Amino acid sequence: MKKITIAIDGFSSTGKSTLAKQVAKQLGYVYVDTGAMYRAVTLFAMQNNLIDEIDFNKEELIKRLSEIHLSFQFNPQLGFAEMYLNNVNVEKQIRTLEVSNFVSQIAEVSQVRAMLVKQQQQMGKDKGVVMDGRDIGTVVFPNAELKIFMNASPDVRAQRRYDELSEKGQLVSYDRVLENVMQRDYIDTHREDSPLVKADDAIEIDNSYLSREEQFKKVLELVNNI
Ligand code: DC
Repeated sequence: MKKITIAIDGFSSTGKSTLAKQVAKQLGYVYVDTGAMYRAVTLFAMQNNLIDEIDFNKEELIKRLSEIHLSFQFNPQLGFAEMYLNNVNVEKQIRTLEVSNFVSQIAEVSQVRAMLVKQQQQMGKDKGVVMDGRDIGTVVFPNAELKIFMNASPDVRAQRRYDELSEKGQLVSYDRVLENVMQRDYIDTHREDSPLVKADDAIEIDNSYLSREEQFKKVLELVNNI
């Protein structure tokens, strides 16, 4: 079967990555979590003291972008690729609430976006890829054969993120998580460069009340109909 590009965009904590991983596995495709790349750049800024409580040193970050080397390395035990920042596995560190709180601001920087978009286009140039993010169907691969746009109510998404963090032993209140989800939605949809919007030709899936299995089946159906 001819390989295609599958772009999965949408709001945070809509289960994009779970679905994308499942679809990639089923089709034997490569999965690319572009949010992990923005998170790794955020971690770099934190590690290099470019971020304080409320602000970050944008000029310095832009100057030092060439020091950031990102790669995905497949972990056979987990069955998916993990994020490496300058050859160090940062998969755990990039999922903390501290990184989540800052990542949208880092993702607003055009120079960061330009660098990451270029790398993403390179990763997907041979097709056979499922890529999830915010701008995959609009900017990274506007000609993707299949574009999905995922949505769910903020309450449902905050509850999912809260459960995820609790499972990992991270102590946070539900209210803080909800606040973070809503704040990120706002920044992601209002930024000047590549704001989160549904591509005209994307198919929207609201999964507030859909099981993982139902979403998976729906996407496979869409793939088979191409
Ligand atoms: O998918 P995620 O929650 O891990 O993404 C983290 C942040 O990165 C999100 O708040 C917005 C940003 N992002 C982006 O701007 N463009 C992408 N393609 C992916 C993520």
